[in-house]
Amino acid sequence: MRSLISTFVSLLASATFTVGIPRSGSGTVTAKARAATSTARSNTAAKAAGKLYFGSATDNPFLNEDATYKAILSDNTLFGQLSPENAMKWDATEPEQGVFTFTNGDVIVALAQANGQIMRGHNTVWGSQLPSWVSDSGFDNATLISVMQNHVSTVIGHYKGQMLTYLTMYAEPFNDDGTLASNVFFETIGPTYIDLALQAARAADPNAKLYINDFNIEGEGAKATAMENLVTDLKSRGIPIDGIGLESHFILGEIPTTLQAQMEAFTALGVEVAVTELDIRMTLPETDALLAQQQTDYQTVVSACTAVADCVGVTVWEYTDKYSWVPSTFAGQGDADPWDENLEMKPAYDGIIAGFSS
Ligand code: G3I
Repeated sequence: MRSLISTFVSLLASATFTVGIPRSGSGTVTAKARAATSTARSNTAAKAAGKLYFGSATDNPFLNEDATYKAILSDNTLFGQLSPENAMKWDATEPEQGVFTFTNGDVIVALAQANGQIMRGHNTVWGSQLPSWVSDSGFDNATLISVMQNHVSTVIGHYKGQMLTYLTMYAEPFNDDGTLASNVFFETIGPTYIDLALQAARAADPNAKLYINDFNIEGEGAKATAMENLVTDLKSRGIPIDGIGLESHFILGEIPTTLQAQMEAFTALGVEVAVTELDIRMTLPETDALLAQQQTDYQTVVSACTAVADCVGVTVWEYTDKYSWVPSTFAGQGDADPWDENLEMKPAYDGIIAGFSS
């Protein structure tokens, strides 16, 4: 796997772009505090730290409409890995039963291939972003198993051998108290749906790394323990599982103090981990102090991955505030990413570089 990745060819020379131009009207934020100062490159730094990549999520509308955004994303000294933010989800790939559309996902895979970047797939089975023909189907147990297996097999089969080396096969199985989350798969099939989905994924592409992803598992607690128990159980029964994705949608100043210890607890089970959806949101407006805290927080997260041998990499859930999912979900919050709305590096970027250097 690692030798395969090492053969990927880096096609792009280092792109250059301006850093440090302050946004107008940014209140208490000064030009000096606004700008990143590091000249190091984030993916280069990740690899120097022994990681496979530093990466970003991306989505087709942004790629289509914003050439500057795409050029920065395509610089493989900055980003060595891409995740599709929405393009490979169930509602995007099988909007009608048996009718598969891979157009948007294929665009992102082709971009990663052209850039010499690793792809992580995201995601084949999740309780959200399901078309109504799945979520409201009323399918019986046997029918939904067949529908789920067909979806997993077809999507993963389509991308087999196309650099889709990592897959978030299953997303967000747990409630915060560690019980299994209610969704149409759990309600209809029961907990074995996780086994069946993982087995279908492994059969469709034996070389893909299979991950289960969740949020609020980044520090010790009931949900993290439930993930440990699930992975232990899966491995004891020979169900394929290769990694745990720590989504890492954090709130400024609230990075779990047990983050590294929790990563180590996961890798002690014989799986790898990755930070798969990192962002660190603040209550707006930005201030110099908030940007400084965000720099510290990014460094804390990246340092934890650097310190854990089997943490393979860090992915931000969009590299820029311009296209973050956060403001539309959390009113009054945002600016969660290491590049700002003008596609300029923030102090958080320096935190990332420092984290890979620790
Ligand atoms: O595709 C429709 C489009 O047709 C329509 O015109 C438009 C109108 O609002 O909506 C579009 O769908 C949106 C979709 O993103 C694609 O852009 C949905 O409204 C919107 O809710 C959806 O948000 C995504 C969210 O998952 C949905 O749960 C975010 O972009 C995406 O960043 C977010 O990502 C998730 C991970 O997959 C799993 N972990 C948590 C993370 C953050 O919620």
